[in-house]
Amino acid sequence: TGAEAVENAVKIARAATGRPGVIAFTGGYHGRTLLTLGMTGKVSPYKKDVGPFPSDIFRAPFPSPRDGITVQDAITGLENLFLTDAQPERVAAIIIEPVLGEGGYTPVPFDMMHQLREICDKHGIMLIADEVQAGFGRTGKWFAIEHSGVVPDLITVAKSMAGGYPLAGVIGRADVMDAMIPGGLGGTYGGNPVACAAALAAINAIEDEDLLARSTAMGEHLKARFAEIGARAAPYRMWDIRGLGAMVAVEFVTDFDSAKPDADFTKRVIAHALKQGLLLLSCGMQGNAVRVMVPLTASDEIVNEGLAIFEAAVKAAVADEAK
Ligand SMILES: Cc1ncc(COP(=O)(O)O)c(C=O)c1O
Repeated sequence: TGAEAVENAVKIARAATGRPGVIAFTGGYHGRTLLTLGMTGKVSPYKKDVGPFPSDIFRAPFPSPRDGITVQDAITGLENLFLTDAQPERVAAIIIEPVLGEGGYTPVPFDMMHQLREICDKHGIMLIADEVQAGFGRTGKWFAIEHSGVVPDLITVAKSMAGGYPLAGVIGRADVMDAMIPGGLGGTYGGNPVACAAALAAINAIEDEDLLARSTAMGEHLKARFAEIGARAAPYRMWDIRGLGAMVAVEFVTDFDSAKPDADFTKRVIAHALKQGLLLLSCGMQGNAVRVMVPLTASDEIVNEGLAIFEAAVKAAVADEAK
């Protein structure tokens, strides 16, 4: 699982640095095991009623223009954390999703990623890019962090790596990875041969079928179609269209003046789409965004059929309100 990859990345970072601390971000999602839940920055439904969580995990703010949190505010928040709770020489890793998945398909601003790299270098902290959701082509590059030009110390991978077949892993420099002694990482199902064959097939397909270019083109198409469907146009109330490559989300609000997140409207869009055979998944701290997770191998015809159902579902959700 992705969660196990994240746990292993933390173990590797701890072994390589000899330090315990981990810093994660508001709205970050890293899994449902107890260690990763401690790092996940979203209470409901994941952390509700199942604490306590492991110690030595600290949370820094993620930039949010809507809440007036700039990149500089987020970096100041992290620097403050070093003063208040997390002694930097005791921090093994800073973990971040280059594009928040569960947290709303929000890309990390590139200058923030560069500043995180500098901070990690300054204090000898490992930078972990959690690419469980964004990795293996979803954003038009093998890894989403490549868009920023920053090189992390460790990358966690899963999901698209084996085309959905259960496989996960950690990628890193040998000198960091080798800090773990043989046998320190593993498990009964680790490196399952069928899953490894699926990953090799998926990697070949990404290369042979030029799926990175397909991902970029699909993202542009999705964004254009969403804009056409009604971004910032009443009564559809699509406030934001964002993402990297084919990892795109749209966000719904109650009205454009207050831009208040509208989770109910979002739920109705999802319910109407489901009736027409289109499965959608919400995301975002307020549950008011819909994320697109269409396979990169889907034909234009299928993608356009899905977009047409989405459009009809948004209209039906608006019509509900007139009843
Ligand atoms: C960024 C990220 N990290 C970790 C995980 C956990 O992966 P899994 O559900 O396979 O444990 C997920 C799952 O959605 C994820 O999106």
